[in-house]
Amino acid sequence: PNTEFEVIPLTGQIGAEIRGVQLSAEQDEAQIRAIRQALLEHKVIFFRGQNHLDDLTHEAFARRFGPLYVHPTVSARNATNAIFELDSAFGGGRANAWHTDITFVDAYPQISILRAVVIPSAGGDTVWANTANAYRTLPQELRDLADKLWALHTNDFDYGVYQDEHPEQEIEFHQKVFIQRLYEAEHPVVRVHPETAERTLVLGQFVKRIVGFSSSDSRRLVSILQDHITRLENTVRWKWAEGDVAIWDNRATQHYAINDYGDKRRVVRRVTIAGDVPVSVDG
Ligand code: SIN
Repeated sequence: PNTEFEVIPLTGQIGAEIRGVQLSAEQDEAQIRAIRQALLEHKVIFFRGQNHLDDLTHEAFARRFGPLYVHPTVSARNATNAIFELDSAFGGGRANAWHTDITFVDAYPQISILRAVVIPSAGGDTVWANTANAYRTLPQELRDLADKLWALHTNDFDYGVYQDEHPEQEIEFHQKVFIQRLYEAEHPVVRVHPETAERTLVLGQFVKRIVGFSSSDSRRLVSILQDHITRLENTVRWKWAEGDVAIWDNRATQHYAINDYGDKRRVVRRVTIAGDVPVSVDG
């Protein structure tokens, strides 16, 4: 079987483009394993020109990595089991805050697979950050502290960050759809990756506070760690074309969709793969 493909690292810390693969549910097991290996190494991998995929073949390909995880509050797109659509024309379609997907549930997804459907001619890039490298490069004293912390994550996150753009529509989506049912989960701030054994930081937009800390202490402490995650040296930025697919390890990354395209349309569709409950450094 042909598992050969080209892996082109995009930065020194995170991200690679993979060339020479047509993604489909029919790929042989060895090639799926090789893709997973590249994912574990580079944290986010990109495939250009996957325009042959539609919603159903996108889902079918995703199933090769494990059972699909359906978003707990936002319905799957019509006629699909698990396609989560972000459409800039509708409330909630712009993910312009640093986050790891769906950390407000206990067993949040291990992998996300995003397909670009409509992309503005300029703008709308997405940036990913490596949360394993972020942990590794903290000073030892901060690593020791972070190892001991737990954080409360919720889908009722700080909506203030969205207020400049489409405030009414966004707030309506947030209240009627996104938090129609409230979820809360406590995660260790440092989790041990179940496949690579790396330690990664689990923070981002859904964090409400550090358990046992006041909100102002939490805010300051989270921002020290969060600023470290999002240092430009720890990120990769992808300029989308329609038909591109990005696959990220949701246990080792955060991402941010840049909202710099005004009223232009941007539509992306995502499928997530079920993950497990994070394990802290204490097991
Ligand atoms: C997401 O947060 O999963 C969407 C990222 C994007 O719109 O590029």
